[in-house]
Amino acid sequence: MTQKLNNSQETPFVVITIDGPAGAGKTTIARNLAKRLRFCMLDSGALYRTVALALLQAGVMPNDEIIPDDLLKSISIVIEPAVGGMQITLGGEDVSAEIRSEEVGVAASKFSAKAEVRRKLLGTQRSVARQCDLVAEGRDMGAVVFPFARVKFFLTASAEVRAKRRYEELLQKGARPLYSEVLLEMRARDHRDETRSLAPMVPAPDATIVDTTNLTPDQILGIMLELVKSRLGLLK
Ligand code: DC
Repeated sequence: MTQKLNNSQETPFVVITIDGPAGAGKTTIARNLAKRLRFCMLDSGALYRTVALALLQAGVMPNDEIIPDDLLKSISIVIEPAVGGMQITLGGEDVSAEIRSEEVGVAASKFSAKAEVRRKLLGTQRSVARQCDLVAEGRDMGAVVFPFARVKFFLTASAEVRAKRRYEELLQKGARPLYSEVLLEMRARDHRDETRSLAPMVPAPDATIVDTTNLTPDQILGIMLELVKSRLGLLK
């Protein structure tokens, strides 16, 4: 079935979107859902993180008003979608480890409020949906990037639970975080992502909201798979 992305773009592939705040479990769930369905997966946060890394490396600060146009144009990001995942390169280099730092995450949240950054990434994100069936996760996948997605989810969880998940992730990486600081940063990031004027993080009107506060990853996946299968007519 051909899906209309906007007036000028069409794709023969199915798109499922998963949006929501940091720490709601989107990336893990999107990867698992994509693997189960044998779809490609787009982690759009990784794209914003990659742009942020490139800007930081070029000496642009997250609070700088202006991002030089030439600099933004010169940032070369290539995505290679694959079943259950994707490969991103920046100028031909694998930066998947560097983009996961806290510094790059905070910078991504600030740079992503800028129109020129969002514009740069729009076409890149849509191009993935012209290559394979797709589970796309981020903040504005259902509302802005893929408004005609067949199934849209918005995952939420209390800030405390999301901060606890993030805190445990940092501990596992060998860091020594303070839970209270992780919670404060989580709330600050939610505020920035929700209140920016461009593509703020809000559920698309036709998104199904899943509160993951008291659910295990397997339970979340079960709920989502059921809905996807019924929407796509895959239930026996
Ligand atoms: O999901 P994440 O933490 O990797 O995303 C990093 C930042 O990128 C997030 O704080 C906001 C921004 N982002 C965005 O503005 N739109 C998206 N679709 C995905 C991420």
